[in-house]
Amino acid sequence: MRPNHLLAIDQGTTSSRAIVFDAEGHIRGRAQREFKQYFPAEAWVEHDAQQILADVLAVSREAIAEAGLKPDEIAACGITNQRETTVVWDRETGEPIHHAIVWQDRRTAERCRQLADEQTEGWLQEKTGLLFDPYFSATKIGWLLDNVDGARARAEAGELAFGTIDSWLLWHLTGGAVHATDATNASRTLLFNIRDQAWDDELLAFFDIPSALLPEVRDTSSDFGTSTVDTLGAEIPIAAMVGDQQGALVGQACFKPGMAKSTYGTGCFLMLNVGEEAVVSRHRLLTTVAYRINGRTTYALEGSIFVAGAAIQWLRDALHMFEKVEQTQALASSVEHTGGVYLVPAFTGLGAPYWDPEARGAILGLTRDTGIEQIVRAALESTCYQTRDLVNAIGDDAEPPRELRVDGGMAANDLVCSCLADILQTPVERPDVIETTALGAAYLAGLQVGLYDSLDAIGELWRSERHFEVEKPAAEVDALYEGWREAVARVRCGDG
Ligand code: G3P
Repeated sequence: MRPNHLLAIDQGTTSSRAIVFDAEGHIRGRAQREFKQYFPAEAWVEHDAQQILADVLAVSREAIAEAGLKPDEIAACGITNQRETTVVWDRETGEPIHHAIVWQDRRTAERCRQLADEQTEGWLQEKTGLLFDPYFSATKIGWLLDNVDGARARAEAGELAFGTIDSWLLWHLTGGAVHATDATNASRTLLFNIRDQAWDDELLAFFDIPSALLPEVRDTSSDFGTSTVDTLGAEIPIAAMVGDQQGALVGQACFKPGMAKSTYGTGCFLMLNVGEEAVVSRHRLLTTVAYRINGRTTYALEGSIFVAGAAIQWLRDALHMFEKVEQTQALASSVEHTGGVYLVPAFTGLGAPYWDPEARGAILGLTRDTGIEQIVRAALESTCYQTRDLVNAIGDDAEPPRELRVDGGMAANDLVCSCLADILQTPVERPDVIETTALGAAYLAGLQVGLYDSLDAIGELWRSERHFEVEKPAAEVDALYEGWREAVARVRCGDG
């Protein structure tokens, strides 16, 4: 029988996982490992790329075994990944020259400030859809070339390779045979022209990055080579690579302009499909490649919030307010409201629409009545308020979505979903497979190897698990949101 199971490798910011899906999108096997985060200085975040690779190989094999399959029974593999995170490695040995610099890392904030002026900001946004912010890869690559001994000279001599995590994994899965990325990941580097769909010489010169470092950019569903027997146990076609947020957009079947999804993982990323024209935001949202299939590019507007689930982890790990994330729903539901408490989780600055790398987190409005319940509730609500910030900004650039499809760990929390519907005054849909990021990567790989004949066929597989209606009146919600805006104003440093 022709293989019809798909392996999705989902390499996220705090964990690496692998999921085996059948052709209908049901989960048949899964495995996951959390890995160590390195914080070498204030607001610096690093990962050990070798650890990531080792974990990815281990979880892939475990997931295949859990599905009761042999590696050669997998039809294709799709890779989806934390975006922007930057790895530079030696082409000869495959060894990274430094820890990976993670998307959350703010070490190049000063460099971004030096580079930014009003004129170049418009130029940059027009070409890349992005802004001057340490979030993206270009200044991270520059930092590595300028701070690792001999790196710049070696990069210029073609001895080093740059990649986001997708490229890093692909290189090793194919035994060093393929150095490539896909258009969605390339669109997060600040070096890729989203209109020409190519690396841009002017951008490379501006950020002083040698082109010899760069991977080839391919379609999102594409032939990326095959894994070696040593890595995944068989020569499995790697048939898709996609940034994780774009993966979720596909997993949520948001294939028509106006459809939007919001993923609540470490951070929160809201994406609105805007079709085949790259809409430039007037409100500091990002324009990004949603997917590129058969050479045709679909674009999205994106609002990125740096901290969502990470605020809950912080309450658990640093403040020891509870032991398990699952307890937060009961804790927060045990009180009617936060009693005026707002938690602004600006641990690594604020993302869209503020873009303030120097802002820092705060809990405001504390009184003697405040307990763990109110603070937990405020943390959950902060995710909803931040989503409203994004939807408000999107509403000025494009038609706001009529419903929001949600996924990611926090979307399992019913309180968060109903609070979101109220605060946005927009219905919220939760799909039956909440692992939409991995599902999207699997679908894109399946499309490439002919398991599906079109995106429409994939769209027909999307199923809602629960619909959350708006319950609170707008006036009540507006007053609460006003309090959030005031809280944000108090933690801001920049005027971005
Ligand atoms: O842009 C960063 C994003 O891709 C990370 O996603 O799910 O690892 O928080 P996640």
